[in-house]
Amino acid sequence: MAALKDVEMLSRDEAAAELARLAREIARHDRLYYEKDAPVISDAAYDALRRRNAAIEARFPDLVRPDSPSLRVGARPAEGFAKVVHTVPMLSLDNVFTDEEVREFDARVRRFLRWPEDQPLEYTAEPKIDGLSCGIRYEQGALVQAATRGDGRTGEDVTNNVRTICDVPKTLKGSGWPDVLEVRGEVYIPNAEFEAMNAAQRAASKPVYANPRNAAAGSLRQLDPRISAQRPLRFFAYAWGEVSAPFATTQMQAVKKLGAWGFSINDHMCLCENADEMIAAYRAIERQRATLGYDIDGVVYKVNRLDLQQRLGFVSRSPRWATAHKFPPQQASTILEAIDIQVGRTGAMTPVAKLKPVTVGGVVISNASLHNADEIARLDVRIGDLVLIQRAGDVIPQVVKVLNPERKDRGPRFVFPKVCPCPLKTPAVRELDEKTGEPGAITRCSGEFACPFQRVRHLQHFVSRQAFDIEGLGKKQIEAFFEEGIICEPADIFTLQERNAQLHIERREGWGETSAANLFAAIEARRSISFERLLIGLGIRHVGQTTARLLSITYLQWQVFHEAMIAARDLKPDNPAFAQLLGIDGIGEVVAEAIVRYFAEPHNEGLVERLLAQISVQAATPPQSTSPVAGKTVVFTGKLEHMSRDEAKARAAALGAKVSGSVSAKTDIVVAGPGAGSKLKKAQALGVRVMSEEDWLALVGG
Ligand code: IVH
Repeated sequence: MAALKDVEMLSRDEAAAELARLAREIARHDRLYYEKDAPVISDAAYDALRRRNAAIEARFPDLVRPDSPSLRVGARPAEGFAKVVHTVPMLSLDNVFTDEEVREFDARVRRFLRWPEDQPLEYTAEPKIDGLSCGIRYEQGALVQAATRGDGRTGEDVTNNVRTICDVPKTLKGSGWPDVLEVRGEVYIPNAEFEAMNAAQRAASKPVYANPRNAAAGSLRQLDPRISAQRPLRFFAYAWGEVSAPFATTQMQAVKKLGAWGFSINDHMCLCENADEMIAAYRAIERQRATLGYDIDGVVYKVNRLDLQQRLGFVSRSPRWATAHKFPPQQASTILEAIDIQVGRTGAMTPVAKLKPVTVGGVVISNASLHNADEIARLDVRIGDLVLIQRAGDVIPQVVKVLNPERKDRGPRFVFPKVCPCPLKTPAVRELDEKTGEPGAITRCSGEFACPFQRVRHLQHFVSRQAFDIEGLGKKQIEAFFEEGIICEPADIFTLQERNAQLHIERREGWGETSAANLFAAIEARRSISFERLLIGLGIRHVGQTTARLLSITYLQWQVFHEAMIAARDLKPDNPAFAQLLGIDGIGEVVAEAIVRYFAEPHNEGLVERLLAQISVQAATPPQSTSPVAGKTVVFTGKLEHMSRDEAKARAAALGAKVSGSVSAKTDIVVAGPGAGSKLKKAQALGVRVMSEEDWLALVGG
């Protein structure tokens, strides 16, 4: 990184150029922070950019730009908020876009519950508010804490700001509320207030907010609650987190009670009894969208009965009992300026459309996905074309089609590169589909561990929120440290401090004594890491949070898992170690093979060994459960009479059992229904405990 010139030494031209660069750069970081919730630089580095901007403006006041970050309201707070761990995780919702997908959602719910198709099954339908979710905790009826969603597990403490929102009661009204009640809902700014807010900005020659959602985010995340208090923030209650006692039997009844206790609840919430009624409710809400007075981006359907919600449970980060039916994507046209190739962690080469920036639904878009070589060929999109793009909510914007394919002097067709754009220019390989063996859609760089682009992505993944979660080590820092050979592999992160006598991180641009010390502390805090986070961090193909969790609760200890993966190396189905891995419910052949192959690769072995010399891995704790099946490996076979196979498996997993698809000497219980065949025979041969569905239900409590 080139050293920056002292502000005092800058010429007028240099100052103007740098203010332009800083305005762009800071705006980009604000966007990443507010719109994508994915900052790539530390707070300290961000503050340094702003300080430099302010120092240059102080020297050349006439060069202050209209888009200067110093004029922007709601800029990112200078320091972070205190963290709040959610006692009940704040989940997100699955999306559907079409009527067909609504029917599939309903069918899935019914199948899970074994609910007859012709019987009414109640759902609520309600507007999906386009704001930010927030959890507000009450103890003995008094507001004690409020937190943003954050990553779903940990959010930011915004108690003082939320207290200033007029439709959040400081003490609950009426009676009958549980002693502990965490009310969840959406913080938003109504459209009229948003317009007024921006009109005031314009009158003061200050820049305006792009949309009400960003304005709400900027207003809620003010360190000074007096500023939040002046912003027209509002709140709709629609859900709850921790409660000391149940307070309703249906969603509708629960939300009505929240209303009686003093919250604003949405008056467009209604009940539906099947998919047709849900779709009709969606259409009705869609018709009123422009006159509601606040932004919504779809309709949320929820199974009404709370006991059914409980039975349906969750799949990874979202409930099975709810989904969001999103409004159609918003579209705009712009010029395609270039096609870049991005190389992902696994070497997948993804073409990205670089666009002339354009506003779509209040958000400035300058990149859109082109997916793969086939998609480019299908669209026949060329540099200089006018293209139609669309974005729906938080989905990556897409190029839909070329609007002027007939234009003269059109450039040549895009030729997908035959080599990786990395400095090594390793050959790109069109991958074969893992199932069919036909040429697949993905072109991959063949450089693997040699490809610097892949290695940087691996490192960025390693420090990311769901893996090692090292604060202060964002994408930008990793890139810079990698380029300079300071961090080449994960183990290097943990030797950073001892090498700092030579490195002097505190002297680098964007760093100081405090931020460097904070970084070392953040790294130290991760020297002891959970088995699950380590697994995620390694970036094994197909191993995300869900698979990592399954592996960690199956093997419990890293050492046991590691030895099993080595023992499974021949990938033969009759190899007990491989069979056990394959047997885990939720891990298929492709995933199992990818995991075993990872550990068979000498480069990975070395990398893992060096990392393990630096860190200690905490053993996973089996799910805390007093149930008699906790920790037991269970196989379901044959027909089940009382519940669907999916529900049986989900329930067993919720009770702490490990569900497997195959019987081995490690199996503890086989639940066999009518029609059970080879698995039952094998269980009998191995002397595994076999029980009927009734016995199973009696064992787990009905
Ligand atoms: S229910 C367990 N209801 O949408 C699911 N969410 O995409 C709890 N949202 O994080 C959420 N309006 O911030 C629910 N009426 C509504 C909503 C709503 C907006 C947001 C919420 C959530 C996101 C998921």
